[in-house]
Amino acid sequence: MDEKALVKKTIFSGIQPSGDLTLGSYLGAIKNWVELCDGYNCYYCIVDMHAITVRQNPAELRRRTIAQLAQYIACGLDPQKNTIFVQSHVPAHAELAWVLNCYTMFGELSRMTQFKDKSAKNSDNINAGLFTYPALMAADILLYQTDLVPVGEDQKQHVEICRDIATRFNGIYGDVFKMPEPYIPKVGARIMSLTSPESKMSKSDKDPGGCIYIMQQPDEIMRCFKRAVTDSDTCVHCDPKSKPGVSNLMQVYSVATGENFEDIEKEFCGKGYGEFKTKVGEAVVELLRPIREEAERLIADKSYLEGIYKQGAEKAAYTANKTLRKVYKKVGFIER
Ligand code: TYM
Repeated sequence: MDEKALVKKTIFSGIQPSGDLTLGSYLGAIKNWVELCDGYNCYYCIVDMHAITVRQNPAELRRRTIAQLAQYIACGLDPQKNTIFVQSHVPAHAELAWVLNCYTMFGELSRMTQFKDKSAKNSDNINAGLFTYPALMAADILLYQTDLVPVGEDQKQHVEICRDIATRFNGIYGDVFKMPEPYIPKVGARIMSLTSPESKMSKSDKDPGGCIYIMQQPDEIMRCFKRAVTDSDTCVHCDPKSKPGVSNLMQVYSVATGENFEDIEKEFCGKGYGEFKTKVGEAVVELLRPIREEAERLIADKSYLEGIYKQGAEKAAYTANKTLRKVYKKVGFIER
């Protein structure tokens, strides 16, 4: 590791390849990864082990894992400057997760919103992995002595439980883990569904019109935005409580163009929702176009991507194993 990397702070974040990447995960997470990556030593992971907490089609999971890697790079994450890897390629994640499971309380896990939501959606498969998911996520973060975890708002609770687990472990054994902070963007932290703006835009959304995917074609994106739910008013104004649909579109437009809410209100004052929705759709099409085109090019180059994830896993394992060795020693395991 070079000297600069040693003094730089560390970022860790990840996305599950449980569905194709969405506009929500791009605006809530990846866009910030790209903006932050120059000043930090960064680890960006494709968390396939988290994905199997919900039943996956194996061939689809493999396809999405590779496609997600291509999309990370196409979004602007330089694989030479950032460590990009697949979670299951670094066994230390599973190993530390087991240890942390023994320092995580049943009551804490029972309070997790994501567990409650996912067990309601998958009532025929409420497995132990879904329940202990936060201990694996804590392992992801703590293995790299992470300072900052850039995520959308829905993951804040998981970063908080990670801090609780780290505090408990450090309280018993001394300063083993660095205390991570969540990094949640001011705008874009919670992009809502276009068809039911009271719920989060999600890759597992049953309504295909509610969710925009990074790899979607421009005409499909435009169709979704033109059909986006607004309200019976005619005024482009931000008020998430009374105008959730319009406020969500304003949020998307603001992050896509860099304009603030005031300017957006002025720009569309006196104009109908039809024009507004078209403009938001066009801004998203232009935002995603270069990413999609570059990702399509990269997906065709299997051997390049293979080289990247192998090199990423090697780099990640080097750092992860250092922390794991320390943890094993602390809890009383004899050296291998
Ligand atoms: P996941 O895969 O559900 O989502 C990936 C990232 O995208 C953000 N996100 C959103 N942000 C704004 N609006 C939305 N509609 C939206 N949908 C998704 C999420 O907040 C997240 O940042 N448990 C994590 C994955 C994970 C992880 C980690 C993250 C595993 N280990 C360690 C950080 C650090 C998850 O399920 O994210």
